[in-house]
Amino acid sequence: MLKDVNPPPRLYAIPENCKLDNPKFIAKKAKEGKKIFNNKKLANCVACHNAPGSINAGDIGPDLTGYMNGLFKAKDLRGQKKTIDWIYQRIADYRVQVPKEMRDPKSPKFVPYYNIMTVNLTTRALNYDQVCALTAFLMTLK
Ligand code: HEC
Repeated sequence: MLKDVNPPPRLYAIPENCKLDNPKFIAKKAKEGKKIFNNKKLANCVACHNAPGSINAGDIGPDLTGYMNGLFKAKDLRGQKKTIDWIYQRIADYRVQVPKEMRDPKSPKFVPYYNIMTVNLTTRALNYDQVCALTAFLMTLK
């Protein structure tokens, strides 16, 4: 079905009003993000990821408990250091972070695990502000 075809991968910048360098903003926004994370009708992150406070979380993706001190510190698939912009992009449209050969089902380097996560901003499943809130929430997982 046509509506199941994702639009092409897109690179995003954190919007001006998403002040992820401001601790007060982060604390406030993280509360919103936690709700979105666990909302099965919205992002449904909890279908695949556990995080503190999540109930009946799935384990298809990594457990994000202690994320900032754990997985965040590992290099990404391109060997780059992860940044806050990287987290925002990951939630918005992770596809630009996965090398092409790992995304192409016809390539011998294709890795299904790297192609499971939902694309949220390019598909408009979430808006910029909701991606901002989720990024803030992940930033509090220490
Ligand atoms: C359908 C399952 C699924 C859903 C839904 C999902 N994810 Fe993921 N996610 C994954 C998988 C699988 C990975 C690991 C793949 C990889 O590392 O490339 C992942 C990786 C991540 C990572 C990267 C961790 C790292 O540093 O390597 C973050 C952050 C993340 N997800 C956050 C979210 C958030 C926030 C949501 C909700 C908007 C979400 N995910 C929804 C499956 C999912």
